[in-house]
Amino acid sequence: MASYETFEHDVLVIGAGGAGLRAAVEASAAGTKVCVVSKSLLGKAHTVMAEGGMAAAMANVDDRDSWRVHFADTMRGGQYLNNPRMAEIHAKEAPDRVRELEAWGALFDRTKDGRILQRNFGGHRYPRLAHVGDRTGLEMIRTLQDHGVHQGIDFQMEITIVTLLKDGDRIAGAMGYDRERGRFKVYRAKAVVLATGGIGRAYQITSNSWEYTGDGQALAYHAGAKLLDMEFVQFHPTGMVWPPSVKGILVTEGVRGEGGVLRNNKGRRFMFDDIPENYRSSTADNEEEGWRYVTGDKSARRPPELLTRDHVARCIVREVREGRGSPHGGVFLDISWIKEKVQNAPEHIKKKLPSMYHQFKQLGDIDITKEPMEVGPTTHYVMGGVRVDADSQMSCVPGLFAAGECAAGLHGANRLGGNSLSDLLVFGKRAGEFAAKHAKSVSMPKLDSPQVEAAAKAAVAPFERQGGEGPYQIQQTLQDNMQQLAGIVRREDEMTRALELIASLKAKAANVSVYGNREYNAGWHTAMDLDSLLTVSEAVARAGLMRRESRGGHFRDDFPGKDNEWGQYNIEISKAADGSMRVERVPIVPMTGEHQKIVEENK
Ligand code: FUM
Repeated sequence: MASYETFEHDVLVIGAGGAGLRAAVEASAAGTKVCVVSKSLLGKAHTVMAEGGMAAAMANVDDRDSWRVHFADTMRGGQYLNNPRMAEIHAKEAPDRVRELEAWGALFDRTKDGRILQRNFGGHRYPRLAHVGDRTGLEMIRTLQDHGVHQGIDFQMEITIVTLLKDGDRIAGAMGYDRERGRFKVYRAKAVVLATGGIGRAYQITSNSWEYTGDGQALAYHAGAKLLDMEFVQFHPTGMVWPPSVKGILVTEGVRGEGGVLRNNKGRRFMFDDIPENYRSSTADNEEEGWRYVTGDKSARRPPELLTRDHVARCIVREVREGRGSPHGGVFLDISWIKEKVQNAPEHIKKKLPSMYHQFKQLGDIDITKEPMEVGPTTHYVMGGVRVDADSQMSCVPGLFAAGECAAGLHGANRLGGNSLSDLLVFGKRAGEFAAKHAKSVSMPKLDSPQVEAAAKAAVAPFERQGGEGPYQIQQTLQDNMQQLAGIVRREDEMTRALELIASLKAKAANVSVYGNREYNAGWHTAMDLDSLLTVSEAVARAGLMRRESRGGHFRDDFPGKDNEWGQYNIEISKAADGSMRVERVPIVPMTGEHQKIVEENK
């Protein structure tokens, strides 16, 4: 019999990024007993990598903005595969969530008349991102943590959850271990909120740190929930490409929002060469007009660097493939040029983009006020995740909720920058609210000891095997292959190879062995991440193979166009009774007449 410590709460939140913290704050405020477990230390969430701001139609900088325009922009950016009800709730509620964060102590940059300043970002028609320099995600986490700590929430750090527990069909809690000592922990709960973030670590080049191995998506899938839109992975156009040790670290879109331009090795602003038809009327076709837009001229159209991320990333890949890239395989991103236009430009850049200034100075010995950066795409975000009810965020498993990046629906085929932080606040709050309601309406589920025993046995098995594959080799082979075979540009033969490889890695993972004991054992932790990594990678490749068209974050070299029929379907993934992965195309959630009207009036 494994020994384990048992905890009992009404609501268990797994993950302490923006969505998890906001859910915990809400559930606690509703009077329920809440526990937050996080794989890492508090404060170290991928939320901090949303640097440039949170999108909310507050209309502080351009009074033409409204929730209706934000809704239309989000749907167009997501290429109409979004759940329109989620896009509506998000656009309507984001301004209140930002103001509430401010009331809880968050600092924001200000307009001259003292309102929250909003900046331009890709795909947003008007300056919409409330921000504090390029540290907005960090400020959000700081504020939510301070708020949550004072509410008496039970925070447990450095806990990896290995399985969700069930009582019949309903959720009963989760089981995990503490990463320091390897001691098992059982969390009994009436409701569980998954807020574990993304899957970036399934790829070699990513802005995500080590925690982001798709845990929430995989836990939900094994517990009987459905996954949606997993083929849509977002490659942020600008990550660092040099030096190698920092490859993939994010370079905020805020650089382009403040006037940074992309150039190839011929010095050409190549984004002017490929402006998609549906953005032509709103995108500048000359440098002067683009700059006027950045400085707030309402009659100007936005620069092509602020087209959606999927498009900008593909244009960068094209430049590199066709030999027009920078020395280290990226392109140039230049903000220093604004000295031609802005007085005291170096101070202005340091004030607007302090983290970028320090990041490049310290990691790359580049002074961005004087010289261009070298940048290239980096795996940043997954639009897909756990399928949830638009209003409550509950999955099809009673008592199991998901919010933030590990949930699906809001962003469709491509997320607009800045819509992530607002997503975390809007749907984190809703997940907390509805999880608390659910918890109040049910009794504590039964604890099924055989489930706990089985999970504990599986967790220690790698210590008992000799001569199996090492966990790091499996992880690295997976990352290399996902990057090559299921990355920015995909093909049928490559994704088929990816699936064959994933199958062989699964067999190796089932036989993985580690040495030493459970204390401070990084090899064991990596072995424990493999199931999630392989599950989400399989979901990406299977859904990618099924969608025979190109749309948003999913670009097929062998089907380069958008297909109207495919525009009517999402792809849903679930675990079949025999343990295999079932992949189905399901009709999209239709827009109401009012939604359609809003989209039309904003075309
Ligand atoms: O570029 C950025 O600052 C990232 C923002 C986001 O992903 O929302």
